[in-house]
Amino acid sequence: MASALVSSTVLSVFLVLIATVSAQTAPAPAPSGPLNFTGILDKNGQYTYFLRFLADTQVGSQVQIQLNTTTEGFTVFAPTDNAFNNLKPGLINSLDPQKKVELVLYHVLPKFYTLNDLQFVSNPVRTQATGQDGAAYGLNFTGQNNQVNVSSGVVETQINNALYQKKPLAIYQVDKVLLPEAFFEASSPAAAPSPATKKASGSKSNSTASSTADGPSASDNSGSMGRNIGMGLVLGLALACMGFLS
Ligand SMILES: *[C@@H]1O[C@H](CO)[C@@H](O)[C@H](O)[C@H]1NC(C)=O
Ligand SMILES: *[C@@H]1O[C@H](CO)[C@@H](O)[C@H](O)[C@H]1NC(C)=O
Ligand SMILES: *[C@@H]1O[C@H](CO)[C@@H](O)[C@H](O)[C@H]1NC(C)=O
Ligand SMILES: *[C@@H]1O[C@H](CO)[C@@H](O)[C@H](O)[C@H]1NC(C)=O
Ligand SMILES: *[C@@H]1O[C@H](CO)[C@@H](O)[C@H](O)[C@H]1NC(C)=O
Repeated sequence: MASALVSSTVLSVFLVLIATVSAQTAPAPAPSGPLNFTGILDKNGQYTYFLRFLADTQVGSQVQIQLNTTTEGFTVFAPTDNAFNNLKPGLINSLDPQKKVELVLYHVLPKFYTLNDLQFVSNPVRTQATGQDGAAYGLNFTGQNNQVNVSSGVVETQINNALYQKKPLAIYQVDKVLLPEAFFEASSPAAAPSPATKKASGSKSNSTASSTADGPSASDNSGSMGRNIGMGLVLGLALACMGFLS
């Protein structure tokens, strides 16, 4: 009788010990660990292309590192796999490594915005992407009744779904890839052919005027603010990217 009592006491102490130990080592039921930017996208399952771009261009890891120190935070627009599938075939492949970096950075705002903020933000909002002249590419937001649209000038889409919305990080799903207008203003084979450029190139077969070609709004790029902030990141990323791809 006594020995039965002892052994059952020993057993329950043992069980309590096991329970304590496993409670300490078992993963928390909710991911309360450090914020994992790509992890949030990865868990969702429909951002394979975007994740690949974030990895190839190293923008994903840059954002992850900066999340730790940023006071402003970040807002990221994550195009779905469908969005990439709906692009003109070959468009992505036609981009050089630097343009790929720009494209990804165009989906990142260097500030945390709630959907409500975006509804009333003053346009254009600068992104992390900057052109070769150092001017930040902007996005325009229009909102009504908690429905916000984002426009790049060549692409407009609704912001549907907040995957994450807690400072310092907001991630919103978009159903279209946000293509910067600047990609289509100069030197892009995707741009509509302009009758003016044919004449300008005269008898030479190769035009060197790619940077001055045709864009009707090439001169009104209004995103000059903050060019210095984005520039270092872009350069660093471009270099990293070139290293990565070569
Ligand atoms: C973040 O999530 C990604 C993808 O799920 C994973 O590969 C990576 O190890 C995670 N990073 C951290 C620091 O947990
Ligand atoms: C981010 O900050 C946390 C503490 O605030 C620290 O434990 C972690 O190592 C930092 N991560 C990076 C990548 O700097
Ligand atoms: C957003 O775009 C849709 C069409 O894509 C349009 O019907 C709607 O009115 C727009 N909303 C705002 C707030 O601009
Ligand atoms: C944003 O809107 C302004 C005028 O409201 C326009 O000049 C500019 O081209 C637009 N930019 C984009 C990226 O749509
Ligand atoms: C035009 O450019 C192509 C390659 O871009 C080059 O092979 C060719 O020699 C150039 N022709 C002239 C006339 O510059």
